[in-house]
Parts: sequence; structure tokens; C-alpha cells
Amino acid sequence: MAEQKSMHGLWRSRWLFILAATGSAVGLGNIWKFPYIAGENGGGAFVLVYLLCICLIGIPVMIAEVTLGRLGRQSPINTMHALVKDQGAPKFWGGIGWMGAIAGFLILSFYSVIAGWSLAYVIRMAGGVFDGATSDSVGATFGDLLANPEALLGWHTIFMVLTIGIVSRGVNKGLEKAISVLMPMLFLILLLLLGYSMSTEGFGLGINFMFSFDFSKINNESIIVALGHAFFTLSLGMGAIMAYGAYMPQKASVGKTVLMVAGLDTLIAIIAGLVIFPIVFTNGLEAGAGPGLLFQTLPLAFSQMPAGTLFGTLFFLLVAFAALSSAISLAEPVVAWAVESKGMSRVSAATWIGIIIWLLGIGSLLSFNLWAEYTLFGKNFFDVLDFLTANIMLPLGGLLIAVFVGWVMNGKDVQEEVRMESPLMYTVWRFILKFIAPVAVVIVLVNGLIPS
Ligand code: PFF
Repeated sequence: MAEQKSMHGLWRSRWLFILAATGSAVGLGNIWKFPYIAGENGGGAFVLVYLLCICLIGIPVMIAEVTLGRLGRQSPINTMHALVKDQGAPKFWGGIGWMGAIAGFLILSFYSVIAGWSLAYVIRMAGGVFDGATSDSVGATFGDLLANPEALLGWHTIFMVLTIGIVSRGVNKGLEKAISVLMPMLFLILLLLLGYSMSTEGFGLGINFMFSFDFSKINNESIIVALGHAFFTLSLGMGAIMAYGAYMPQKASVGKTVLMVAGLDTLIAIIAGLVIFPIVFTNGLEAGAGPGLLFQTLPLAFSQMPAGTLFGTLFFLLVAFAALSSAISLAEPVVAWAVESKGMSRVSAATWIGIIIWLLGIGSLLSFNLWAEYTLFGKNFFDVLDFLTANIMLPLGGLLIAVFVGWVMNGKDVQEEVRMESPLMYTVWRFILKFIAPVAVVIVLVNGLIPS
């Protein structure tokens, strides 16, 4: 395909692409979700399956997704349309863009609710609510927050307004700069917390929990959750990374860049686990506590640490910021599409899309209180959205991307665009993308979804 230009601008350098993609990848998925699903699924064996999914499926698919974006240089929906035409492929493949856009809507709706929890915790931390906290009192504080739909709605609204505000200004102004300061700060506070958790008596138990592989704890559902999380944490299968790839400078090599993003993302998730589980075991908490795990463990750590109020406040603020840099990548694909195809200004596209997502988010926030008993297969509204998006839509999107790039597209076009320096690396990548990744995703999806 002839070289395309992006109407939304370009990242100013490869390094800024790495920052933005890392900003998208590192978020609630690493700090909130990974520890709690690892806890629910028994720890070590789950962590191993997750790491395998990142290496064998996530990284190869991410390279494919960035490559597609850079080739098309438009929103994922229009990039896919253009590529399908260019490659003479059946129209059906254009569905990758649409399914991704829908997944982005659904994910952002509940993502914003959870990000709202971290905003709520900034205020609680700063107000000294956790001074002298005990495991019971942190549980009660979290329970009170969930039982209060008005408070949840307020925080959800603030978070959506922030997200839309940034997306409507475009990616270059503000965001690039903010990420380059705030991400390293988040990393430093996580390291500080790691130092603390290493000093607790439960550290050994925490390590053991995360890295001893007890395969009796793993079943088809936990494998599907591990695969789904590999996609979720790397922001794959829905076009976020494709949209960011569209703004990537032409010269940069995709392979190395992706390895860096995936490496940082995985490192942060593992550190988050190493911080949280020792605190769980030291304080006799429940590793399988579910979505509240982060909010019921860290306040305890901060309450016992010198200057804990300050660090705790800063920490939850940075978590909210990490969530914000992910949230904008969830909204960007649809907003970019509305600007390109509906002739809307960025501001009105972002506002309308934001309002719809905000409304949908109310369903998730009510599922923690007023609607808690409305369930489908034992899952409330939030659980259903989470399962449907992370564990079905993202892997399916990733599968289609792998097959499209591996089998449908002209190999020469792909090789030219991906620009890997080493021919061996290219061969390995293409082999995994064609054979291993699709087969693995199909096996996991079929086993996990068809009741045995
Ligand atoms: N990767 C983000 C996280 O781990 O929190 C969440 C996310 C962002 C998922 C963008 C999907 C996406 F397209």
C-alpha cells in the first residue's frame, strides 16, 4: 500500500510512542486486576500461564497490531477497511475494527468506575482515614464506598470528564508530557512499596504464592482468564494499539519497540503482585478477595509506614493517572473514527462518545450495590462486561488480527512495514503469528467456553 499520512498527528519520536503505548498498557490491569485475578485463581500456575500467553500470543499479536496501524494511519475501523480493499480480502475482515470499537466502549464504561475508586482513595488517604488502620477497618471503609452509589457516580463522572477532556485536545498536547513524568513516579512508588513488603514477615509466603506452580489449581476458566488478561494488560485485540501505531513515526522498528512496552508492562504487574501478596499474608487477609484486593491491602501498608499518608495519597493519585493514560487509548479509536468518517470535530466526537460510555458505566457501578443481585450465570453486570470483553472479545480480536496479518495479507507488504532488523527474528515472529498464536487462542476459547 502506498504510504499514508495520519490526520491526527504523529508521536514526535519512537520514544514517545513507547511512552504512550506503555501508558496505555500500564493501568488498572497491572495494579488492580492482575493481583486480584492471580489471587482468585490460586497464584503461581496462573502467573505462569499468563506469562506464557504474553510471550507466545501477546507480543506477536502486538507487533501485528502496531504494523496494521502504521500501514493504515487511520482509526482502526478505517485502517481495516483500507487494508481489506488494498489486499483484496473479503469485506468481513473489516469487522476487526468494529468489534474493537465496541469492546473499547464496554471496557471504558467499567474501567472508569474502578478508576473512580482510586480517586476516592486519594481523598480518603489524604484525610487520614487509614491512620492506625486494621484489616477490619480497611475492609469496612471499602465496603462503605461500594455501598454508596452517589459517591461512586461522582467519581466515575470526574474520571470520564478528565478522559474526554484529554482525548478532545488530541494526543500531542499535554498527554505526552504528563506521561513522561508521572509514569516514572508511579514506578518509583511501587519500588518503595516493594521495599516495604520485603520487610514484612509474609514476603516469603507472597513469593511462594506467586511463583510456586500448583497446577491442580488451574482449570479451563482460569486459563481463559489468563489469556484474556494478557490481551487486556497489553491493550490488545481492540484497536487501541492499532490506533497508537497509526501515529508512530515511519522509521522506528516495531519489534524492539513492542518488546520494550510488553517488558515494562509485565514488570509492573509482577511488582504489584510482589507488593500486595506479602501484605495479604502478613495481615491474615484473603488472597481471593476479588476486585477490592488492592484497596484492602495497600492502605494497611501505608498506615504502618513512615510518611504513609503522603505516599498513600500520591500512590492512589498515580494509579488514577495510570488509569487515565489507559482510558484515553480506549476512547481514541472510536473518537478518531467519528472525526474521520462522521465529519465531527474532535471535541464533539469525544463528548458524545463520552456521554454514552458514562451512561453505560452506571450499570457497572450499580452492580456493586443496588443491582448486586441481578446476575447472569452468577455474574453481575460488571462481571459480565469484564468477562465478555477481556476473555472473549479481546482474544477473538487478537485471533482475527493474527490470521489477517499471518495468512490473509501479502507477506512482502508485512515484512516491509514491520522492519525487523534480524531476518531470524522476523521468521520466528511470523511462524508464531501464523501457527502458534491462533491455534492457542482457539484451543483456550473452545475449552473455556464449551462446558465439559
Ligand atoms: N491495558 C490497560 C490496563 O492494563 O489497565 C487496559 C486497556 C487499555 C485495555 C486499552 C484495553 C485497551 F485497549
